[in-house]
Parts: sequence; C-alpha cells; structure tokens
Amino acid sequence: MLELIQKRRSCRNFTDKKPTHDQIDQLLKSALWSPTSKNNRPWEFVVAEKTETLEALSQCKPHGAAFLSGAPLGIVVLADPAKSDVWVEDCSIAAIMMQMTAESMGLGSTWIQIRLRLDEEGNMAGDNVKKIINAPDEMEVLGIMAFGYKAKEREPYTENILLWDRIHYEKF
Ligand SMILES: Cc1cc2nc3c(=O)[nH]c(=O)nc-3n(C[C@H](O)[C@H](O)[C@H](O)COP(=O)(O)O)c2cc1C
Repeated sequence: MLELIQKRRSCRNFTDKKPTHDQIDQLLKSALWSPTSKNNRPWEFVVAEKTETLEALSQCKPHGAAFLSGAPLGIVVLADPAKSDVWVEDCSIAAIMMQMTAESMGLGSTWIQIRLRLDEEGNMAGDNVKKIINAPDEMEVLGIMAFGYKAKEREPYTENILLWDRIHYEKF
C-alpha cells in the first residue's frame, strides 16, 4: 500500500484505451466499501463514459477540469447533505479509495474539485454538473474523479519531499 501511495501522482493525460467494466466495478466497490460516519453512506456516484457527457462535465468550471474531455472515464461523487452532516468527509474518503484502487490496477486518476467552485459567470460549478447528470436539486457535488490509462508515467514521490516538520509528538 505504501508503495502505491508513493507512486500515485495525478494523471491528466490518458491513452485511448478504455478501462474495462471489471475495472470500473472494482473502482465502484472500493467506493461503496468506504467507511462513513455512523455508517450513513450518504454518497451517490455517477459513472460517465460517453464522450458528450465527459466533454460537458469538462466545461463545468474554468480551471482544472478541461482535461476531462480527454479522459475515458469520469465518476461524479455527490451526496445528499441531509443524510449526513459530514458528507464531505464521507465523499472524500470514497474518492481517495477509488484513486488508490485505480493506481493498484495500473490506472491513473485525478481529483477535479467541484464543491465551492464557480464558473465564469459566478454560478456554482456543482449546479452545472447536476444539470448535466440530471441529479436532484438537493444533492451536493464534491468532485469528479477522472480515470484512465496513463499516457505517461510520472516520477513517484521521493523521501526528500516528506514534510516531517509537520509531525508532532504528544504536543504541537
Ligand atoms: C481536494 C483536491 C482538489 C483537487 N482539485 C483539482 C482540480 O480541480 N483539477 C486538477 O487538475 N487537479 C486537482 N487536484 C489534484 C492536485 O492538483 C494534486 O493532487 C496536487 O497537485 C498534488 O499532485 P499529485 O496528485 O500528483 O500528488 C485536486 C486534489 C485534491 C486533493
């Protein structure tokens, strides 16, 4: 696991090869098996594989989402906040679980932040996403996870970037 964590880097350039349905199932299992506060499991996941959906989602905010149009797979992570006061944490855990599962299968991934992000007109990016995927009004979108085969490998992290000074023992 630690090797996978060290190796995982955000990937924004993908080959044309599509993840298989079995791989997509494994990503979804890792999300659905994620821990949640009080076992509330407030999340929902929308799998996007169609070019037109990925293209539309890639335009939901002005920065940091455009590369999704070149990805073969996006998974929107969203939740009904009425189901959990800590839906952000629950969704974030599911998202990173999927990223690590992707890495374990040789797939690349990147988190695309949607919550609290705006488009150029000042509309919430989450509202744009909800329109594209037909999500009910009461849902809140955490983000979109982009997945696919890596067009190029990035260097894994090295020991020398570890911020050991952020670690405190017993007291801050
Ligand atoms: C909460 C969160 C939001 C992020 N949002 C975006 C985003 O909107 N677009 C993007 O291209 N990358 C996004 N990233 C990826 C980060 O830019 C990336 O993780 C960071 O630069 C460290 O690089 P690494 O993932 O290769 O370790 C996000 C990552 C996190 C954890």
